[in-house]
Amino acid sequence: MEQLIVQLSLIATCALFILALMWMSHPSTARRGVRAGEIGMVIAIIGTLVHHEIVDYNLILIAMAIGTVVGVPMAYLMPMTAIPQRTAISHAFGALAVGLIGAAEYYKYAHTAAPGSFVFWALMLEMLLGFLTCTASVIAFAKLQEIMPTRPIVFGGQRVVNALIAAAALGVAVTLVFAPTNTALFPLFVGLALLFGILLVIPIGGADMPTVIALLNSYAGLAASAMGFALGNKLLIVAGALDGASGFILAVIMCRAMNRSFANVMFGGFGTLAAGSAGGKDDRPVRSASAEEAAMVLENADSVVIIPGYGMAVAQAQHKVSELYQALTKKKVDVKFAIHPVAGRMPGHMNVLLAEANVPYEQLVELEDINPELPQTDVALIIGANDTVNPSARDDPKSLIAGMPIIEADKAKTVFVIKRSMNAGFAGIDNPIYYNPNTQMLFGDAKAVTADMVKELAGGGTGH
Ligand code: TAP
Repeated sequence: MEQLIVQLSLIATCALFILALMWMSHPSTARRGVRAGEIGMVIAIIGTLVHHEIVDYNLILIAMAIGTVVGVPMAYLMPMTAIPQRTAISHAFGALAVGLIGAAEYYKYAHTAAPGSFVFWALMLEMLLGFLTCTASVIAFAKLQEIMPTRPIVFGGQRVVNALIAAAALGVAVTLVFAPTNTALFPLFVGLALLFGILLVIPIGGADMPTVIALLNSYAGLAASAMGFALGNKLLIVAGALDGASGFILAVIMCRAMNRSFANVMFGGFGTLAAGSAGGKDDRPVRSASAEEAAMVLENADSVVIIPGYGMAVAQAQHKVSELYQALTKKKVDVKFAIHPVAGRMPGHMNVLLAEANVPYEQLVELEDINPELPQTDVALIIGANDTVNPSARDDPKSLIAGMPIIEADKAKTVFVIKRSMNAGFAGIDNPIYYNPNTQMLFGDAKAVTADMVKELAGGGTGH
């Protein structure tokens, strides 16, 4: 009976995880995808708890209570803009668990399993990935939370040092596979893996951090999969492989969206350049307008493209933006939303916020589809976006973000930009779009300015 429950829970969980990933790939089914993943996880936990090898439930209950006390407030209290660092710290805990289970299994088998056997290969691989992902994720968390400097920390001969540490960790791991009773070497192996994780992430900074998080997600998945092989647990193999593959695909998508290669991300030292070019703020004057003036232009336009960014998320302006969309649509203005793949601070950030505010999915247009339409667009309304509309990426080969695909808002006939100041965005560089003759700045908080525009539109205006 117990075996049947375990097997059934395994099949149900694998199916639900696969469906979850499939459904999460489209905004209209994403909520269903999240539910499927949650249900799959609950079934997996129940299936694990009926396992006959469990002799004492007390420790498990205590661990579950601690996990709940930490996890529930984290889910409710951490703002959505902090999701990357929240994900990083979750990876750190998950990877630490993987590493510790691997260590327990190693000590269990050290004197019983045959040297060179498969279980040691699987254990060493999962511990290497687990421990390095743990410290790498803690550093990623500290950088994103700005507990430590976000710029890359680089020193001479860094790559050689990294390569030597990685080689030493691998060397000790292989030694332990063939001489597992040599337990004195084990702490050295763990120390090298932990140190390698730190060294791997400190030279990465700036805009590359989100990609690193996706990559660490992939490593954590691979570590769990390797643990599945070591423990003979099929669910861990499948779930880990899904996690590893999806994390890797996400990292590739993000690299493409920022025009960065993996090698660039891992060894590029992004923020060193950022620090150098951040200071060059332009002294040219900018034109600014009031919300009332902007509302008048908007309601007399035929086509408007709204480009949301991180500032919309910070201001929690999505509901007001949705009201603006409705008000303009009522006045027969064609309104679309241009979605950059790395707008905001997490993949799909803008899609989630706009869906929450009931903006129809069909109005959300991706970068490559909206760009050809922008030269014919009457008004581009940029709401808290900066790097993702920065024309230097296209026009200045020396720019820090050169080659990053952008939403070409500057090609619209009129451009309005809602932001609070002339401050830079995430990449820390100036944006020439603000000084263009067809651009007008609407200085202020995104929610307040949008609300003023909505009020103005409701209060009159002839429209079409
Ligand atoms: P950013 O370039 O980060 O610019 C956001 C702008 O919003 C800032 O210039 C800021 O200007 C403005 N802002 C902040 N709070 C505001 C408020 N309350 N009201 C109005 N404006 C406000 O945004 P983006 O264009 O969305 O680009 C995203 C950047 O983050 C990219 O560089 C990307 O690589 C990076 N990144 C992306 C991700 C993912 S996966 N999406 C994750 C991490 C990092 P003021 O201060 O003047 O208001």
